[in-house]
Amino acid sequence: MSSRWVDPRQDVLEPQLRTLRPRTLEEFVGQKKVKERLRVYIQAAKARGEPLDHVLLLSPPGLGKTTLAHVIANEMGVQIKVSSGPALERPGDLAAILTHLSPGDILFVDEIHRLRPQVEEILYPAMEDWKLPIVLGEGPHARCIELSLAPFTLIGATTREGLLTTPLRDRFEVVFRLEFYRPEELAEIVRRAAPRLGVEIEPEAAWELGTRARGTPRIALRLLRRARDVAQVQGTNTITLAVARETLQMLGIDAEGLDELDRRILEVMIDRFDGGPVGLETLSAALGEDPETIAELYEPYLIALGFIRKTPQGRVATERAYNHLGRPFPRLI
Ligand SMILES: Nc1ncnc2c1ncn2[C@@H]1O[C@H](COP(=O)(O)OP(=O)(O)O)[C@@H](O)[C@H]1O
Ligand SMILES: [Mg+2]
Repeated sequence: MSSRWVDPRQDVLEPQLRTLRPRTLEEFVGQKKVKERLRVYIQAAKARGEPLDHVLLLSPPGLGKTTLAHVIANEMGVQIKVSSGPALERPGDLAAILTHLSPGDILFVDEIHRLRPQVEEILYPAMEDWKLPIVLGEGPHARCIELSLAPFTLIGATTREGLLTTPLRDRFEVVFRLEFYRPEELAEIVRRAAPRLGVEIEPEAAWELGTRARGTPRIALRLLRRARDVAQVQGTNTITLAVARETLQMLGIDAEGLDELDRRILEVMIDRFDGGPVGLETLSAALGEDPETIAELYEPYLIALGFIRKTPQGRVATERAYNHLGRPFPRLI
């Protein structure tokens, strides 16, 4: 089921969309509180001539973590090196990157919850004191020396806060949690992107796409591209409200922005488990879906909409979920 079209985990490689990435805090839509704090930290760090404190970015996929890391580098006027937890297989991979950083540079580590323990361990002294411990030789003659690193900023990003180790988390001075975007913010992102994709979009159409994009810019931009296809096939270069609606209907996206699989999750919870509580493993087995995918991708938005509640016993479908599916909500007598 990974063909799920709204899966916002895959990066859009279309070159046009790359250039859609905001470059400055000014262009970065929404996330007001995060931007306010960032402006202060960036200004202060620049005034002191020091690197920015280490930053941890938390959010479901597609909400702008990678984009924000690049925006921060641009605003600081420094280089950014990009890597990820799975890419850093051995301590030497990380050491090679760290020793090539210039003062003030940013190292962006995506999916930082997937760092291996041996790699994570050498990150601690690097983050704390800009030191890199190196073991020379083996056995009884082994000795450890310390290499000095350029003062740098680590920006870590993860979709799975719960999988971070405490020692790693504790070493980030700044933690930002990106929130789902409001429809008007997504509509704005869509409106700004349209001319760069060579289409026009009516304001009502941008709003329609914005309200059904699961609070996620990456999905909003994807809806825009699909709507562009529909417009093209109809021989027009303007995405009207009718075109937007037709696109959404074609993709099986309902009024709340849920697709078939979201609805199936709620259906299974309600019809097979009496609304819950049901554990993640049980739910994923019943759906034939990978638990990781449910936890990372589906659940956050269903929780944000108030369709699912997490309890210590498991997930529970709320009255809103029953209503949305048109099922009677069982009341306690
Ligand atoms: N605040 C924002 N304003 C405008 N565009 C955004 C914003 N956040 C994300 N985007 C766009 O959405 C897409 C996904 O963002 P990305 O940074 O890759 O998300 P993440 O790294 O959290 O998965 C990118 O194409 C980006 O340009
Ligand atoms: Mg990313």
